[in-house]
Amino acid sequence: MAESGLAAQLKRGGTVSTKRGIVVLDFGGQYTQLIARRIRELQVFSAILPCTAAAEEIRAQEPVGIVLSGGPSSVYDKDAPHCDPKTLELGVPVLGICYGMQWLARTLGGKVERAERREYGPACLRIGRESKLFAGLPPTLKVWESHGDHVVALPRGFHVTGQTDNAVAAIENAEGRFFGVEFHPEVNHTERGAEILRNFVFEICGAKANWNRAGFVAETVENIRGQTEGARAICALSGGVDSTVAAVLVNRAMGDRLTNIFVDTGLLRRNEFQDTLEMLRDRLNLNVIGVDASERFLAKLRGVIDPEEKRRIIGNEFIAVFAAEERKLVALAKREPVKFLVQGTLYPDVIESVSVKGPSAVIKSHHNVGGLPPDMPFALIEPLRDLFKDEVRQIGRELGLPEEILVKQPFPGPGLAVRILGEVTSERLATVRAADAIVAEEIHRAGLYEKTWQSFAVLLPIRSVGVMGDGRTYGNVIAVRVVESLDAMTADWARLPMPLLEHISSRVVNEVPGVNRVVYDITSKPPSTIEWE
Ligand code: XMP
Repeated sequence: MAESGLAAQLKRGGTVSTKRGIVVLDFGGQYTQLIARRIRELQVFSAILPCTAAAEEIRAQEPVGIVLSGGPSSVYDKDAPHCDPKTLELGVPVLGICYGMQWLARTLGGKVERAERREYGPACLRIGRESKLFAGLPPTLKVWESHGDHVVALPRGFHVTGQTDNAVAAIENAEGRFFGVEFHPEVNHTERGAEILRNFVFEICGAKANWNRAGFVAETVENIRGQTEGARAICALSGGVDSTVAAVLVNRAMGDRLTNIFVDTGLLRRNEFQDTLEMLRDRLNLNVIGVDASERFLAKLRGVIDPEEKRRIIGNEFIAVFAAEERKLVALAKREPVKFLVQGTLYPDVIESVSVKGPSAVIKSHHNVGGLPPDMPFALIEPLRDLFKDEVRQIGRELGLPEEILVKQPFPGPGLAVRILGEVTSERLATVRAADAIVAEEIHRAGLYEKTWQSFAVLLPIRSVGVMGDGRTYGNVIAVRVVESLDAMTADWARLPMPLLEHISSRVVNEVPGVNRVVYDITSKPPSTIEWE
């Protein structure tokens, strides 16, 4: 169901600059995000919606064009994902890429079959006849394909505009409203792919290049200002990049009508609560209430070992603390009701929580969304929900945030509790904190903090035998986890220089009481996850 009204508008980011862009409908393709990225690099806003989005929801975005992404299914599969066919009646140009082209062709009456010779990887495109999509391009191009199906009969009114050695590679209809390419213009391996997208976005859809950082900030601020007059908002601030950028953005619009709540769960890293609180208040001038709830959290976690149980307890406790603060605020601010909740949700968070029938199906239920009690009827302000992490960093730079916040590695909401396998106790927290501080220090010193996605220590629930001095020890094991990633959906372990590993290991066993062994995690995600719990 399409949502309407203020909440929905705010939920979608609600900014002027996000209108009149390009909507990318996701069929679960591995390059879907890249398509949106490439379009934004042209300074045109692009939002991704699941292919299951209703035509009305798409219309609400007021797009000037639609791209149908690739996807791993075959259109003739029983469970093949499909769009609302009314999407094709919105009156804006549509470009189908790979699966998107096959779905378009089949839906409009053409025929798609499994190819005898599949084309994966490079292929040579011969551009056939005049097409706006290929304006200014040479007659042949090296392109990148990644599918085993081909269009074998065109829908009525369509013609072929490009071929590879064994298949139709590009089609369009005579009115120039529907376009399809079998290959992926969004990947770097496709020669001059960016120009193909540029032709679609500007020449065919008539988009305006008006999406840039300063414009995004100005319009978001103006929009939030207009829609929140006379009301207050609250934000659960963690000091991480996303929530901080969201809070600063909303603070520009609402000033002190935005109250930020920063909770010390007792599960933060060394000095993190005080340092972050100071930074948020003194350097960013945010209105922040710091709540020390560490005792509560620790008491609730006593004796708990199961990872999901830990997450559940921490989530519930967090909401209880947050709700208590909110009630105090409501009591204090009778004349200005608290109507809004600010969240630093990003696009990957949205896609991880939205169920798309097809391969981008729910990956995990997401932390930022849900869980609030029903008597907290807030409209959500999620100004970053269409952006990727690096775009959020750029927005943060535009807002003048200190670099140390912008380059901060992600840290999970449940904090060190998911990095202490087994029971969380004050002693075990002290152990993992000390080891974590050493890892962080050494990674910083080696100049790798910004080059890696996350780097941290994990305390294992086992002991192992060692020898220190002349005595036998039976001590704790610390695992060091350092990963490289672009969006946390996949990750690889960092090939750290041996001397660095050696140095971390020797510092940890020498400086952290009770630890006599250090191991390095050499698994990627998948099959592992980044965190250990
Ligand atoms: P995994 O361990 O699933 O983590 O590969 C992916 C990314 O998400 C972070 N993470 C969380 N962040 N609340 C958060 O705010 C959570 O419950 C949570 N669990 C994992 C993790 O640090 C990594 O960046």
